[in-house]
Amino acid sequence: MSRAKICGTGSCLPAGRVTNQDLTKWVDTSDEWITTRTGIKTRHVAVKGEETSRLAADAARQALKMTGMQAEDLNIIIVATITPDMTMPSCACLVQQELGALNAFAFDVNAACSGFVYGLDVAEKYINSNPCLNILVIGAETLSGRTNWKDRNTCVLFGDGAGACILTGEESGRGIVASKLYSDGRLFNLLKMAGAPSMNAELARDDHDGSYIKMAGRDVFKYAVRCMEKAVAAVLTNAAVDIEEIKLLIPHQANIRILKSLADHLGIDYEKIYINLQKYGNTSAASIPIALDEANREGRLVKNDLLLLCCFGGGFTWGAMVLRW
Ligand code: COA
Repeated sequence: MSRAKICGTGSCLPAGRVTNQDLTKWVDTSDEWITTRTGIKTRHVAVKGEETSRLAADAARQALKMTGMQAEDLNIIIVATITPDMTMPSCACLVQQELGALNAFAFDVNAACSGFVYGLDVAEKYINSNPCLNILVIGAETLSGRTNWKDRNTCVLFGDGAGACILTGEESGRGIVASKLYSDGRLFNLLKMAGAPSMNAELARDDHDGSYIKMAGRDVFKYAVRCMEKAVAAVLTNAAVDIEEIKLLIPHQANIRILKSLADHLGIDYEKIYINLQKYGNTSAASIPIALDEANREGRLVKNDLLLLCCFGGGFTWGAMVLRW
């Protein structure tokens, strides 16, 4: 049976880091508050030359190196991002030109922090129709550019970075086993980031309140736990897999308390959850592929092991995926 299998991973973090201590210079907060409420200690912040497309391309180069493929071997490039360098062209097209991947077509996916899992799901559909395709899926963000550094409710949470993987068809049964995606646009107001206001006065929104990320933290917290729990239960049923069979859960890295609560609800060993948010904060669509790459390079991903991904983000969007590594 042919499945869409991840054959290479990569990641890229900007060089600069902002510690909790650094943040105390700009907003009324403390290392103790941030650490206990979120688990985050530092986050990477991009500067000129480290735009989303550059981070994405660097992560992609690493993934290509791991597979031994050339950029010309890629057929499709999908970038999950809510912080593309420009609205048009897509970040994926900029990555294509950075890599010289001239045999590919390229497009972006916007599903906020869930974007990478959505991207994998789209890639899987293409590979199901043609297992010979090589598809690059990237999650890349520079949310630092859309963060209000005077708002302590949000500025302590986010970070920049990119993660990438390459998928192709494989007959061995390894690869994506099942996925389940959801969204509920009725809840859009609880986590949002407006773009530039429309220049067409008829279309301009009255409630446009700037381009910064805005969030109702407590509501987001509750929905994140409930929604990811539901998605995981559904995907495990679809995959006919018990939670005990999962060797590693790689969740979206938003908040340590969300992950602890999720572990309790799911009845999964906390040690089976891959956590790196203390180093990077919430990197939105980049968080799962960065964690996947780290876990891969640390040797935590063992051939034929069952992995679980789960995500939650603005929209709201959420979902879960089971993979046989
Ligand atoms: N430093 C110090 N105090 C802070 C603070 C900060 N950085 N941010 C908020 N506070 C204060 C609040 O102003 C509030 O003070 P008050 O009681 O005097 O009004 C107090 O801390 C408690 O705020 P609250 O929002 O209830 O805290 P919380 O325990 O819910 O934690 C979050 C806040 C944002 C960490 C938490 O709600 C969260 O993680 N939510 C999910 C966010 C997320 O993951 N978003 C992305 C999803 S993809």
